[in-house]
Amino acid sequence: MEKYIIKGGNVLSGEVSIGGFKNAALPIIAAALLTEENVVIDNIPDVKDINVLLDAISEIGAVVKRISRHSVMINAKGIYSTCLENDMIKKIRASYYPLGSLLGRFKKAVVPLPGGCNIGNRPIDQHIKGFQALGAEIKIEHGMIIANADKLVGNDVYFDVTTVGATINVMLAAVLAEGNTVLENAAKEPHIVDVANFLNSMGANIKGAGTDVIRIKGVKALHGTEYSVIPDQIEAGTFMMAAAVTKGDITVKNVIPKHLEAISAKLAEMGCKLTEGDDYIRVNGNCNLKRTKVRALEYPGFPTDMQPQITVALCFAEGTSIVTDTIFDGRFKYVDELTKMGANIKVEGGNTAIVEGIDKLTGAQVSSPDLRAGVALVTAGLAADGFTIVDDIEYIERGYEQLDEKLRKLGAQIQRVRDDKEIKKFKLKAV
Ligand code: EPU
Repeated sequence: MEKYIIKGGNVLSGEVSIGGFKNAALPIIAAALLTEENVVIDNIPDVKDINVLLDAISEIGAVVKRISRHSVMINAKGIYSTCLENDMIKKIRASYYPLGSLLGRFKKAVVPLPGGCNIGNRPIDQHIKGFQALGAEIKIEHGMIIANADKLVGNDVYFDVTTVGATINVMLAAVLAEGNTVLENAAKEPHIVDVANFLNSMGANIKGAGTDVIRIKGVKALHGTEYSVIPDQIEAGTFMMAAAVTKGDITVKNVIPKHLEAISAKLAEMGCKLTEGDDYIRVNGNCNLKRTKVRALEYPGFPTDMQPQITVALCFAEGTSIVTDTIFDGRFKYVDELTKMGANIKVEGGNTAIVEGIDKLTGAQVSSPDLRAGVALVTAGLAADGFTIVDDIEYIERGYEQLDEKLRKLGAQIQRVRDDKEIKKFKLKAV
């Protein structure tokens, strides 16, 4: 099993180029199944979740051609099955997106119940509610979601909770439905807008994405397109936190600063100096970090996917900070691991952490409970005294491309290792 070993204490500085957003690219790849024509998707990250989904759609007959590391051409004309059974796909959360697109085009689909990160209760009732409103019959049997419809007809769907996944999935099913669909209490995240823009570039008629009411006028067919995925605001935010914890000076390049406002505002409140350009943000963390309160909320609130990383930064802030995650009920599982490094954090009621600032963290062997918690532990290791070993990095690699290489370019001492021999070698070389 691969791990990261980190020798902490280096001040990180320089520029890092941010890749395409995994959580936008996943539904966009699924959306490519809605047409028989060629679709070219640029700026996709080369990470496990994306590659698993690409393999899964090629197993049901889509032609998937890698044009380059970050560009892919998909042609879904020859799809011969609407059942995704790939063992790997069961493990990713986004396995539910082909349900929306296959149902939309073929009026039937069978996909595994989603897996993904273990961050609390993750129902799919709102996806089901939306599909049923369009006329589909949904059954769950043997771990699979089975959807069938004679035809899909547009309808009004009011989501009981704001959900990114269900908003996108029902949008995927509705673009080829007869008549009009209105999604109310829709999620507003930048990737909802990105998926809508992608679908509109294929000839769909979607209005209002980015607000809480999305109106979709069904069209007869969609055509091919070429599209570039938006930058990954969570990857960018992660490097911004790395600047804060190492007292570094990092410029995240190829970003949309507007998407990062909630993160930038918190870092500024904590005392970091930020400079913003059209497509970059520079974070100077050479300051005494100040305590703050964070509430992870739906967009444009502070993103839940940045909650573990900011909690690590707040370990270094003077005084007591409070972090609440209102989106998922089990997203503080990493706190036990951080405690091994000397953090002083108490979790109350499952979704609130009380973080007492401390002088330093010390390196320890810790394990990633999920993707964002894993990367937060890496961030902690960058600032900790001595050596940190982060186990179970396959979680991290589901969503971060070349994390170790990008961090090394900024001056970190980090290595991906397989065994004790490689760990010893790293320790001997580390300065
Ligand atoms: N929810 C329901 N019913 C549903 C769907 C969701 O009650 O049918 C609840 C969830 O339990 C949660 C809330 O609604 O409490 C929000 O869930 P949402 O549907 O927005 O999340 P998701 O689609 O499961 C995506 C990302 C997550 C990210 C969340 C929130 C993907 C593959 N996953 O999950 O990303 O945290 O949106 O922004 O896009 C990550 O990248 O590390 C990650 C976990």
